Amino acid sequence: MAEGWQEYLQGAKSPEAYGRCIREARPGFAALRDLIARLVDRLEPSEVVCLGAGALNDIPFRQFVRRGTVLHLVDWLPGIIEAGVQGSSMSEDAEGQLTCVFCELSEEQAKNFCTTFNRRQKNMPGVCENFRKTPGDHLACENFRKGDLPAVYREDITGGFASSFAREVTGEIAAAESWRSALRQAIKIARHPAPHQPLSIADKSADLVISSMVLSQFEFEPYEYFASRATTTHGRPAGKQAAKLDKGTYMLRDILLSRSIERHCQEIRRILRPDGRCFMAFEMHHRNDEADGWFLVRQMHDAIPALQKYFHFDFDQLQAPDHVVDLTDGNSRSLVYCYLLRPRIEGAPA
Ligand SMILES: C[S@@+](CC[C@H](N)C(=O)[O-])C[C@H]1O[C@@H](n2cnc3c(N)ncnc32)[C@H](O)[C@@H]1O
Repeated sequence: MAEGWQEYLQGAKSPEAYGRCIREARPGFAALRDLIARLVDRLEPSEVVCLGAGALNDIPFRQFVRRGTVLHLVDWLPGIIEAGVQGSSMSEDAEGQLTCVFCELSEEQAKNFCTTFNRRQKNMPGVCENFRKTPGDHLACENFRKGDLPAVYREDITGGFASSFAREVTGEIAAAESWRSALRQAIKIARHPAPHQPLSIADKSADLVISSMVLSQFEFEPYEYFASRATTTHGRPAGKQAAKLDKGTYMLRDILLSRSIERHCQEIRRILRPDGRCFMAFEMHHRNDEADGWFLVRQMHDAIPALQKYFHFDFDQLQAPDHVVDLTDGNSRSLVYCYLLRPRIEGAPA
């Protein structure tokens, strides 16, 4: 990952911020996590890749550890997956009994996941001698130190599209005369992206790829990066001038979204085994209480033809009513569309 990347990633935060995100957001993801867990029981994949794994809020991490799944977790935010693993490994039963999923494994395996593992306690066999609960309500072990497993990749899941856009647009913004000409250059860069840069995950290696709550983020990071940089350099256009830029702004956002989805699908098809499956979930509708209505998340319906181009829909193994999950997070409500996809043979007619 390129130097200076953190600047691009508006979300790049501290371990404390990730911890807060897990505490606050995880309960809202329960329905999606349960759906993925049921699917995993049905499909029994032995090698799984999670793209945009983030803080693992919707990933049934303990289930994967217990099943001995070979797990690859990909996200470009430094430290977020490690925080997610730490925040996912502990559970508490109805009697208040604490269990660390790594302590259920053999000593050797446990050390592969947590380097500080040190034999199970006699009076609390669910945790090891080094267990120390993190302060506050959040259930996690303060002494957790990630080992070699699971494999974590700090890479771009859009085949390098989003990262190369950021790199190239930075110089163009500085050289441009105005916001408007910077926007023109940004559109040009997005239309003529750098060549595809694959993830360091082998071709046809995964039984299951999970891309959950990722697509709807694709235009956000690169567009916000461009807009905030251009505003710092040239000032934010106001009034009539801003209105004139609307068309170009939407054009840029549409290109960023469609190219990112396309590259993402190409990567998924590349790493899936021919008989593998991809679970894809994204926010399609969002409720706005102020406007008292449901809205389409901008241009998300464009994702469907892209899915059709690279995959076959598997509505046999993922059946209604599991195609739509109603996610409520505090005051916000979303309808998340869920698909199970099987790769099309490259070159076969769509
Ligand atoms: C809303 S979160 C997904 C939720 C996540 N599956 C979870 O359970 O917490 C989206 C994640 O995708 C990551 N992401 C977005 N665009 C990316 C890209 N181009 N390359 C790598 N990661 C990306 C973000 O950093 C973020 O962690």
